[in-house]
Amino acid sequence: MPSLEEELFPSTPGKFKDRNRHFHRCFASTSTMFLWALFLIALTASYLCFQSFMDSGNRYFTATWGGHHWEKNVINSAQIRRSHGGMSVLVTGAAGFVGSHVSLALKKRGDGVVGIDNFNNYYDPSLKKARKNLLNQNSIFIVDGDINDSKLLVKLFDIARFTHVMHLAAQAGVRYAMENPGSYIHSNIAGLVTLLEVCKNSNPQPAIVWASSSSVYGLNEKVPFSESDRTDQPASLYAATKKAGEEITHTYNHIYGLSITGLRFFTVYGPWGRPDMAYFSFTRNILQGKPITVYRGKNRVDLARDFTYIDDVVKGCIGSLDTSGKSTGSGGKKRGPAPYRIFNLGNTSPVTVPMMVAMLEKHLKVKAKKNFVVMPGNGDVPFTHANISSARKEFGYKPTTDLQTGLKKFVKWYLSYYGYDQGKL
Ligand SMILES: *[C@@H]1O[C@H](CO)[C@@H](O)[C@H](O)[C@H]1NC(C)=O
Ligand SMILES: *[C@@H]1O[C@H](CO)[C@@H](O)[C@H](O)[C@H]1NC(C)=O
Repeated sequence: MPSLEEELFPSTPGKFKDRNRHFHRCFASTSTMFLWALFLIALTASYLCFQSFMDSGNRYFTATWGGHHWEKNVINSAQIRRSHGGMSVLVTGAAGFVGSHVSLALKKRGDGVVGIDNFNNYYDPSLKKARKNLLNQNSIFIVDGDINDSKLLVKLFDIARFTHVMHLAAQAGVRYAMENPGSYIHSNIAGLVTLLEVCKNSNPQPAIVWASSSSVYGLNEKVPFSESDRTDQPASLYAATKKAGEEITHTYNHIYGLSITGLRFFTVYGPWGRPDMAYFSFTRNILQGKPITVYRGKNRVDLARDFTYIDDVVKGCIGSLDTSGKSTGSGGKKRGPAPYRIFNLGNTSPVTVPMMVAMLEKHLKVKAKKNFVVMPGNGDVPFTHANISSARKEFGYKPTTDLQTGLKKFVKWYLSYYGYDQGKL
């Protein structure tokens, strides 16, 4: 969309000249001049009005919450419905990809689950709404609100005694950070600190499991990536905020005795996935006959990712919750050391992006139109590869779905969700 200035003053010099002459003719009489002035004032006023509307339409706090009915929903949803070792979990980002899957898995085995999500429009909110409906059908209540809203969080901890927090709300994506850096600070830094503040003040304190990212390995070249490797050369603001999150959670563990487990996810994919990820947008474009852009590294080296299937990641999240250990503080005071853990949740078998595309072509039965482009240095790293021996040792984490199988399940979901199985193909 051209800016206002561009529309009033086209950049082509020829056009501008013509308009200039026209301009002079129009201003010949004072009455026309008066009308012009009125018109300009009206234009400016409506522009300013629109501007302030955009500003005040703060996308973070548009939700309403509270009231008797709302509280009843939260209490019901948080209720543990199994006899031994059940937990009551607050899942942040519950309408997100991983959040919705983890919520369903917890509910299925009888744990209490309350979700929170701000339903922002980073990607198609209708997909988040659809996930929410799926959760609602399974008796999981999702609060429409933001994790940086401390009043809301305090209220939630007041009415439901969460034993655990599964913190998955975040601003994701490595390239979008150049467009909207503030969004990463809002969710991944400010939101995280607000959540930790409420958790450390609550009594008893919950144990926290949260999503860090494999992107913290940044430009590392030693493979596979192990948890003890250096993580001080991030390639994107997204990675930097996740790394900051690891440090911030460490201080809350150290000072207040919060039990913390950080999970470094490796390119999680599958049904109900995120439309901003390559496998998802490639599928969309291939089906619509549009070309896809495949990035390549220097010297035409293919990018590779340790693609990890959603069900494997869900098992890792639940294994982390089950083994998290207790927070030791109360009323904001630490009573003793609490666990601080970090685990890779990957698949341990990287696949190149062109190989991933070939698998999609096979499942979709359509050839992709590929444009190979040299990767711009704006956030993506050349490859990822997880060493998962630590998670295996701690809670028996063992991914079982290879990319071929996982993409088949994704494509099946995609075709059904977007109605391709009703004769569109
Ligand atoms: C987050 O909440 C805090 C405390 O309520 C507020 O001061 C801050 O401006 C918020 N930060 C962002 C980035 O929205
Ligand atoms: C994987 O990590 C473990 C520590 O969790 C380490 O002992 C092992 O050497 C690593 N393996 C490789 C291949 O780097």
